Amino acid sequence: MKFFVDTADVAEIRALAETGLLDGVTTNPSLIMKSGRPMTDVIAEICEIVPGPVSAEVAATDADEMIAEGRKLAKIASNVTVKVPLTWAGLKACRTLSGEGTMVNVTLCFSAVQALLAAKAGASFISPFIGRLDDIGLDGMQLIQEIRQVYDNYPALETELLAASLRTSNHVRDCALAGADVATIPPAIIHKLVEHPLTDKGLDAFLSDWKKTGQSIL
Ligand code: E4P
Repeated sequence: MKFFVDTADVAEIRALAETGLLDGVTTNPSLIMKSGRPMTDVIAEICEIVPGPVSAEVAATDADEMIAEGRKLAKIASNVTVKVPLTWAGLKACRTLSGEGTMVNVTLCFSAVQALLAAKAGASFISPFIGRLDDIGLDGMQLIQEIRQVYDNYPALETELLAASLRTSNHVRDCALAGADVATIPPAIIHKLVEHPLTDKGLDAFLSDWKKTGQSIL
């Protein structure tokens, strides 16, 4: 499973990219607002740090305007992925932009049939939002499983299942178990993935015993 980071915080992206574990980045208008910077500057900077897909979301609601915005965003760098909402206008823009060779991420997906439409419209990625379904008492992970099954039923569909709106380490585990192609994860959750109390405890014990040997490796 590929790891994308869900943020527009360039310092955070730079630090995570240094681990060599980052496959891409997703942003959205709320994350751009949080960054307090012009979108085009932020996206250009991120694209220089991360060679993988970097999602930049359109703000228009009309298909023609989405297409115009998408074309402008795609010019920033070859790894820009234009993000469009899962509406009829978004699907129309997806079909046009993907036909021009631009990667498109269809976002705000909350059902398997929506995911099927996005795939038929030529999306490179579909973004089902797990956490927001959990928030209203539904089962976000069930949606990931359903989309996986639908896409596997039709191998000609090439859309990657990009699990979004992840809130916990268990979400990341469950996405991997369900066969998501990508998980886009907030930085705080990525940092938590490495943590386990038994790892810390075991390392403390090994280091203390090693000290008692009086040896050094170098
Ligand atoms: C995905 O691309 C979105 O940016 C993101 O995952 C939304 O997450 P949220 O529901 O925590 O805002």
